Amino acid sequence: MAIEIQGIERRFAATRVLRGIDLSIRDGELAALLGPSGSGKTTLLRILAGLDWPNAGALHVDDANWLALEAQRRGVGFVFQNYALFPHMSVADNIAFGLTIRPRATRPSKSEIARRVAELLEMMQIPDLGGRFPAQLSGGQRQRVALARALAIEPKVLLLDEPFGALDASIRKDLRSWLRQIHDRLGTTTVFVTHDQEEAFELADRVVIMSEGRIEQVGSAEEIHARPASAFVARFLGDANELPVTVQSGRIRAPGLDITRLGRFAIGDGEADLFVRPWEITLEADASAPARIESVSAAGANLRFTVDVPGYEPPVTVEMPRRDLGDDAFARGDRVRVIAHAARLFSAPERNAPSPSVADVAAGGLSAQRRLSI
Ligand SMILES: Nc1ncnc2c1ncn2[C@@H]1O[C@H](COP(=O)(O)OP(=O)(O)OP(=O)(O)O)[C@@H](O)[C@H]1O
Ligand SMILES: [Mg+2]
Repeated sequence: MAIEIQGIERRFAATRVLRGIDLSIRDGELAALLGPSGSGKTTLLRILAGLDWPNAGALHVDDANWLALEAQRRGVGFVFQNYALFPHMSVADNIAFGLTIRPRATRPSKSEIARRVAELLEMMQIPDLGGRFPAQLSGGQRQRVALARALAIEPKVLLLDEPFGALDASIRKDLRSWLRQIHDRLGTTTVFVTHDQEEAFELADRVVIMSEGRIEQVGSAEEIHARPASAFVARFLGDANELPVTVQSGRIRAPGLDITRLGRFAIGDGEADLFVRPWEITLEADASAPARIESVSAAGANLRFTVDVPGYEPPVTVEMPRRDLGDDAFARGDRVRVIAHAARLFSAPERNAPSPSVADVAAGGLSAQRRLSI
């Protein structure tokens, strides 16, 4: 089923929790909603499930208007954030629940339900646990049962809200690849919420990055990493140096950095932030350079340097392959030329605006302004 979300708004009293969400999810796609706490992920998922309604906007699934359909008629399987199984029911009865509450006309026979439960237990790789109660299961096993329960009704759309949130990192990793296999086998359109980046990028066909009730970017892991759409996304991905620079006629002014390899950028004049990943920078010995190595540490096959460049706070992080450096790796105190080979640039409107707060900190210099803008 293809999901078409247009202009969805949701307000709770004066708070705008979703501020115009437009999103198309393809038939059979596994999409992840990723974003900080409070960005509106659960709210959007609840609207898809029919547990909540928007104040404005449209929601169509294969051309059917879902806002006119109540939850039971949408045929969605839902695994909630902090999901709890029915504690007084066996695992098998928990899985069968969605089928047993159907009206008689559409309810499968007892033997058909038993067959389907056995099949799901097998698929979840817990074939012998049907007779146990939830309290007798591990966390990972409980999540499998919760998912089996959501799948029992053969949902057209599967909605998962941080289904592995409470589990250890190693179990999460196992469940992640297992979920991907099940998704591929069943071909169910799946929307998966997480605030774990690694989980989203590893699992999903496309990742939807949300912030404060808006979508910042939609794309594959490669697309988002190669071309983050905004400073928010570049910052959210982490791992990049964020360097305040000035742009004039498409050219960057960044005293102390060698940016001659970056070419021109199509953004307006004014203050901007240059995002450069540690491995996109190289260092060259240069006794007359203002920058100086502050620390050297091992990072797998790389050496990681922090470099103090006057005018930039905090120090710039650089990673270079140990192999390329050979025996003449730099040492603390060495003066170096800092060369950027690739970067993303976003204007920093908050530093351009002549607002009183910026004027107040101007005397504190660049670093004080940077702290303010974070
Ligand atoms: N019923 C409600 N009444 C008032 N405010 C609400 C309600 N439900 C959600 N909110 C607010 O909407 C915002 C978004 O909440 P939501 O649960 O969608 O975030 P989230 O992205 O799922 O966060 P998390 O990662 O912490 O689960 C939050 O600020 C929350 O306090
Ligand atoms: Mg949530």
